[in-house]
Amino acid sequence: NHLPQIREECEVFHLSDKALREIMHRLHNDLVKGLGKDTHANSIVKCWITYIQDLPNGKERGKFLALDLGGTNFRVLIINLGENHFDMQSKIYAIPNHIMTGTGVALFDHIAECLANFMKEHDVYEERLALGFTFSFPLKQLGLTKGILQRWTKGFSCSGVVGEDVVQGLKDAIARRGDLSLSVMGILNDATGTLMSCAHKDPYCRVGIIIGTGSNACYVERTENCELFDGAPGKPELLINTEWGAFGDDGALDFIRTEFDRDVDANSINPGKQIQEKMISGMYMGELVRLALVKFTKMGLLFGGRGSDLLFQKGSFYTKYVSEIESDKPGDYSSCMDVLEELGLAHASEADMCGVRAACESVSRRAAHLVAAGLATLLNKMAEPRVTVGIDGSVYRFHPHFHALMCDKIAALVQPGLQFDLMLSEDGSGRGAALVAAVACREQALA
Ligand code: BG6
Ligand code: GLC
Repeated sequence: NHLPQIREECEVFHLSDKALREIMHRLHNDLVKGLGKDTHANSIVKCWITYIQDLPNGKERGKFLALDLGGTNFRVLIINLGENHFDMQSKIYAIPNHIMTGTGVALFDHIAECLANFMKEHDVYEERLALGFTFSFPLKQLGLTKGILQRWTKGFSCSGVVGEDVVQGLKDAIARRGDLSLSVMGILNDATGTLMSCAHKDPYCRVGIIIGTGSNACYVERTENCELFDGAPGKPELLINTEWGAFGDDGALDFIRTEFDRDVDANSINPGKQIQEKMISGMYMGELVRLALVKFTKMGLLFGGRGSDLLFQKGSFYTKYVSEIESDKPGDYSSCMDVLEELGLAHASEADMCGVRAACESVSRRAAHLVAAGLATLLNKMAEPRVTVGIDGSVYRFHPHFHALMCDKIAALVQPGLQFDLMLSEDGSGRGAALVAAVACREQALA
């Protein structure tokens, strides 16, 4: 039985509270740099200003369109905000791989086409509706409806978009078609959308985070701390899109990175970028586990030293496998067995399955603890007695222990006396996009 040895190998994923506190200290400094006028240009965690200064108050009404691009699914939505109800209909459209990595023009044309088809299906093709655009990539915003793409993250790499205004890209595609009349009322990040969406339900919600394909956080900051803000004065608070997935791009996390992290990074389409994200999020978690399993197999600790072609193939161990394997009750290995069969490892023994599970647990636990450290950093910085954190993303949603792991660790790391709640966002960032559009319409009417 090689389990003790596997556990020992997995120790590299273990983060002590001391290490987590060091990470918090570094992240805090990076957040402050991102917000500062003189330090922002060289900062790693950018803390982009969102130009959203008004949270929903629950009184928003009307029919809105939303686009939601950058997570597992691209969706178009129509949302009806009523007095005591809201009604949301959405449709998922595919973004084929050649579009994800093709030209920006082709991407926006595709989005506009999906939008047009959706509007026809919902009988609003001729209406002039307000639209909110959830665009889950780092944007330097110059206003609520102007955002310059800083870099692509996750699997996208469309040409001709970095350095350009994404809202203009969408408007140009709509204009090329010539058949739609829409007003784009706001562009926002999925973390921002999650915050807006949860704040609509819970007035204590002041942070939104994503643990999905990527990882990010958005939070409410005092305007006086946002030195780069040049919008209308007078409002005391602003939403900040931290883009914390880039944390570590300057080596700040090297002291905890493993050989597996370096491998994942080196074989990604953006080496050296999004280092924290690559240790946490769904796009990479399965691959981290796979690399560990490959190593243990080669060491003779798993599968009698005999892997399978699939196990040795990059990307074959999906992140959902981690959630499935960890969903097995102690002593039960049925999901684990299914996964291993899919991978051509039907010859696995029970000891192998224990080993596989240990690798999954180590990787997901580290991810949960890193997110907890990030959240505790924000909560300590905000120093508000009670904060609800809205959370979305496939890892948080489907992993059976992520929530509990996070809660325990945040409680250990947060300043005594600060109360927090973690709230699963029910309906994604699409509703947040509609709310941003609704609040913008509300404020426009007042102006
Ligand atoms: C969804 C949002 O609920 O969560 C998306 O609507 C977001 O916009 C996503 O990107 C994050 O999760 P994932 O796992 O789809 O990347
Ligand atoms: C990536 C994107 C970020 C997004 C996150 C979660 O980190 O850069 O904008 O919020 O993924 O989808």
